[in-house]
Amino acid sequence: AQLDIFAQLAGKKYFGTATDNPELTNASYVKQLENVLDFHQLTPANSMKWENTEPTQGNFTFAGGDQIVEQAEKHGQIMRGHNCVWHQQLADWVTDGNFTKPELLAIVENHCGTLVRHYRGKMYSWDVINECLNDDGTFRESIFFNTTGTDYIGVALRTARAADPHAKLYINDFNIEGQGAKSTAMINLVKSLQKEGVPIDGIGVQSHLIVGEVPSTMEQNLRDFAALGVEVAITELDIRMNLPATPALLQQQKEDYTTVITACQNVPECIGVTLWDWTDKFSWVPGTFAGQGAACPWDENFVKKPAYAGIIEGW
Ligand code: XIL
Repeated sequence: AQLDIFAQLAGKKYFGTATDNPELTNASYVKQLENVLDFHQLTPANSMKWENTEPTQGNFTFAGGDQIVEQAEKHGQIMRGHNCVWHQQLADWVTDGNFTKPELLAIVENHCGTLVRHYRGKMYSWDVINECLNDDGTFRESIFFNTTGTDYIGVALRTARAADPHAKLYINDFNIEGQGAKSTAMINLVKSLQKEGVPIDGIGVQSHLIVGEVPSTMEQNLRDFAALGVEVAITELDIRMNLPATPALLQQQKEDYTTVITACQNVPECIGVTLWDWTDKFSWVPGTFAGQGAACPWDENFVKKPAYAGIIEGW
């Protein structure tokens, strides 16, 4: 089924959305999620993260992730895997284990290898490394970096390649939408991995943006990434505003969605765009950014906002 949509999408970009297991009990939500005219691709918002897939050492739980894959397969939607290594939603046993460098590298290898192998053949791509950089371009001091330096990055990527040779392997991050210190650091990281012969196929640009603040250098930045010889994807798009939403904010949001979609459309190596869920009802934004919300193209009642027309305009 996945191959069918690959064929249909051949030479075209995909448009998709994140989704989460609890949401699949809402029949009207699922009806829109399954509309392949809108969504060619799904990303699990939570169920493939470390705390959910290896909650205790060596005990892997794939039920949640499997459910999202089955949902996607019903209508031939392709999958992005999310994610192998991240400092958040990590299992406590990893953070608190006081592991040595060789021990932690073996843990990363076992986690990524087992996770990616489980979904072998079913994933278009994997966010192998998530959010490894700080905004100033230095490496984030996660348990992984503090214990292994940058070695965990190469180990995770090599392991993922061996576990599923056909999946595109990504590094994914936020605040790399426009040019700047963090985007430069991402370019340097990819260059150094390429120099070492570490497999890297793509850069994921999360794109959790703010209305009226889409970076003017976004398209050029995507080109800069693509110049490395990798593909790029908009992986977690939402564009939040200060609440309450007003007609003026919703109009600006529409234009901002058009700007982002257009940037991807203008760059051949930008392979697709994924919303970080399509409805304000299930958006992570209000729970994370106090006073902000209304970030998605559909409102809480699953009614299309001006932003939806903005997407169509850019597509
Ligand atoms: C978010 C989920 O949407 C929430 O449900 C969860 O509580 C926290 O994580 N960057 C990422 C995603 O890479 O995994 C995050 O997802 C949003 C920010």
